[in-house]
Amino acid sequence: MKRINTPSEWNPLWLSHLQKNEKIGFVPTMGALHQGHLDLVQKSLENTDATLVSIFVNPTQFNNPEDFKKYPNTLAEDLKKLESVGVDYVFVPNVETMYPDKAELKLDFGFVERVLEGEFRPGHFNGVGLVVSKLFHAIRPHVAFFGQKDLQQVAVIKRLVKDLSFPIELEIVPTRREEDGLAMSSRNLRLSPEEREQALILIHSLKKAKKELFEGKFWLEVKKEIEQDFLQVPLAKLDYFELVNPDTFESQSEFSPAKKSSICVAAYLGEIRLIDNLPIIP
Ligand code: PAJ
Repeated sequence: MKRINTPSEWNPLWLSHLQKNEKIGFVPTMGALHQGHLDLVQKSLENTDATLVSIFVNPTQFNNPEDFKKYPNTLAEDLKKLESVGVDYVFVPNVETMYPDKAELKLDFGFVERVLEGEFRPGHFNGVGLVVSKLFHAIRPHVAFFGQKDLQQVAVIKRLVKDLSFPIELEIVPTRREEDGLAMSSRNLRLSPEEREQALILIHSLKKAKKELFEGKFWLEVKKEIEQDFLQVPLAKLDYFELVNPDTFESQSEFSPAKKSSICVAAYLGEIRLIDNLPIIP
């Protein structure tokens, strides 16, 4: 595996793959890699000729400076994991490389960034849009891989690719979970044992809600019940629990088996904010 730190180191390598008519796969990450990230990597290894993984903790997407400071850094282990699965390139730029000047551009994704994550994390999707655009320009992959775990991010990236005409295909990979159902996340490393245990309320509430919707309960009734369930879990604080259209992120007040829908949840466990979602009708 070759480590690259700047786009100019990548340019000749990119060209040599192009000359051989090879397909380049790209997996952007912020490191602290777990099996969820590795699923994306695996998909790229299977479907492309060369795989590049980026590791960059992007400061502009953190609306909470504490969260940025405390974001886990496990670079040595990350590199070992990527090497052992056969990744071709890892791109590890620093902040000066990615942001030689303070970025002033504001990307507004419209409705999708006013709700749920957009509402609770102002500026977050602007930062994601900026860094992913910069990475796409630097790497110029044929295919880029993103996780369904961050469903609203997927909607934003799809918009970005369409509206800025990036000639890049997107592949979305299902959420990888721990054995007990908790969605894998780099933030899970920061949970205390009690918080880790109580974090199961996220997946339990999603599954319960899905089951009740299929049994014919009204969404608003289900939602109220789940809000009550959260009050019973002392270390959990619910931000939102919503039934949405996964493309537009418009809330659905009624469940219909004929309409695409997903349930999205965000909650704090102590100081740590976790998100998860479950497709109801994919
Ligand atoms: P990060 O949180 O490191 O996630 C990198 C990629 O892994 C994202 O596409 C995310 O959706 C996916 N991922 C995370 N946990 C997953 C899980 N349990 N199952 C499947 N996929 C999972 O998302 C980001 O970084 C950043 O916003 C980034 C796109 C790199 C821009 O900075």
